[in-house]
Amino acid sequence: MPLSRRSTLTQFLIEERRRFPQASGDFNALILDVALACKAIARSVSFGALGDVLGAQGSTNVQGEVQQKLDVISNEMFMRANEWGGHLAGMASEEMEQPYPIPREFPRGKYLLVFDPLDGSSNIDVNVSVGSIFSILRAPADVVASGRDVTVEDFLQPGAQQVAAGYALYGPTTMLMLTVGSGVYGFTLDPNLGEFKLTHPLIRIPEDTHEFAINASNSRFWEAPVKRYVDECMAGRPGVRGKDFNMRWIASMVAEAHRILMRGGVFLYPRDTKDPSKAGRLRLLYEANPIAMLMEQAGGRASTGREPVLTVQPGSLHQRIGLVFGSRNEVERIERYHAEPLSWKDSNPLFAERSLFRDAA
Ligand code: AHG
Ligand code: MN
Ligand code: MN
Repeated sequence: MPLSRRSTLTQFLIEERRRFPQASGDFNALILDVALACKAIARSVSFGALGDVLGAQGSTNVQGEVQQKLDVISNEMFMRANEWGGHLAGMASEEMEQPYPIPREFPRGKYLLVFDPLDGSSNIDVNVSVGSIFSILRAPADVVASGRDVTVEDFLQPGAQQVAAGYALYGPTTMLMLTVGSGVYGFTLDPNLGEFKLTHPLIRIPEDTHEFAINASNSRFWEAPVKRYVDECMAGRPGVRGKDFNMRWIASMVAEAHRILMRGGVFLYPRDTKDPSKAGRLRLLYEANPIAMLMEQAGGRASTGREPVLTVQPGSLHQRIGLVFGSRNEVERIERYHAEPLSWKDSNPLFAERSLFRDAA
C-alpha cells in the first residue's frame, strides 16, 4: 500500500527538532520509546480474553487499589521500553510506590518520566476504552551532574515545568496525543505500518460547551460550588444557564479528556467530603498534570477549582487532587463559583444550615 503524505510521529519529531538546532535528539528518542511502549500495550489490550490478560492480578498498588493484570503488564512495558535508551534519570508510576532510578547497567540521561501505565483499568474487562498517560520533566541539575539515584523530591515539580505530556488511547483506534509545549498534536496508529500518523494537528478546544462529565453518585459529598454548577447545568433551558446540557461518564479519564479535546466539554472529579484523607480521586503527577498541560496547550483550562493545576507544588509522589478541565469558559465559571460562594449562598438558607455544603478550609 502506498505511503500517504501524512507525516509519521518520527517525521513530526524530526521536523520539530529542526527548529532547535542545538537539541541533542535525546528528547525525540525518548518520545519514540514512549510511543513504542504504547504500541505494545495497545497490542496486549487488543487481544482481550484471547491473550490471558484480563482480570485482577491478585495484588494491590500503593493506593490500595486492586491491580489488574494489564496494569502490571503495561507498567512493565513502560519500564522496559524506556530504561535502556540513556535519556532518563528515573521513572515514577502509579503502580510503583517508589521512584525507579535507571539501573547502573544503562546510561542515565537528563529527563524524568512519570506515567499512569493504564488509566481506566476497571474498564478493561468490559471492553471500554482505556489509555496510558505520561509526563516528562527535567531531572534536577545535580542529578544529571552527579549521576546519583533519583529520589521522590526530584519528581515534586509543578506541572508548569513539564517538558512534554501526552496520552495514548486504546479505543476503536489507537491514538497518541502529544504536546511538547507548542500546541497539541494527535496521531492515529496505522495498523498496516505500525506507525503513528499525524491526523489531528494543532487541536483547539471550543471555549463553550453544553456537555459535562462527573460521577453523580458522589453528589452527596460534593462541595457547594460543584453542587451549584451541576444543579445549574441540570436545570437546562429554563434555568440560569438558559440551555440544555448533556452528561457523560466513561470512568476512563483519558477517554473523557479525548472527547473534550475533540469536541469540547468539561470534566470534574472535584475534591469532595467522601474521604477526608483524600484531596480528590485523581493523582496530580501522572493524571492531572499531563492532562492539564494538554488542555492548556489546546486552549482549554485545567483547575483544582481553586487554582490552576499546573501551579500546584506537589507534596508527595502519589498525591491526589481535585480536578476540573475542559472548555475554558466553563472551567472559569467553576473557578468563579469556588472563589465567591458566599454571595449566592447567603440568599439560600439551605447552605447556611447544612454542614455538608460548608466550604472546607
Ligand atoms: P486508574 O484506572 O488509573 O486507577 O484511574 C481511574 C480513574 C479515572 O480514569 C476515572 O475517571 C476515575 O478513576 C473513575 O472513578 P470512579 O470509579 O469513581 O467513577
Ligand atoms: Mn488513572
Ligand atoms: Mn492506572
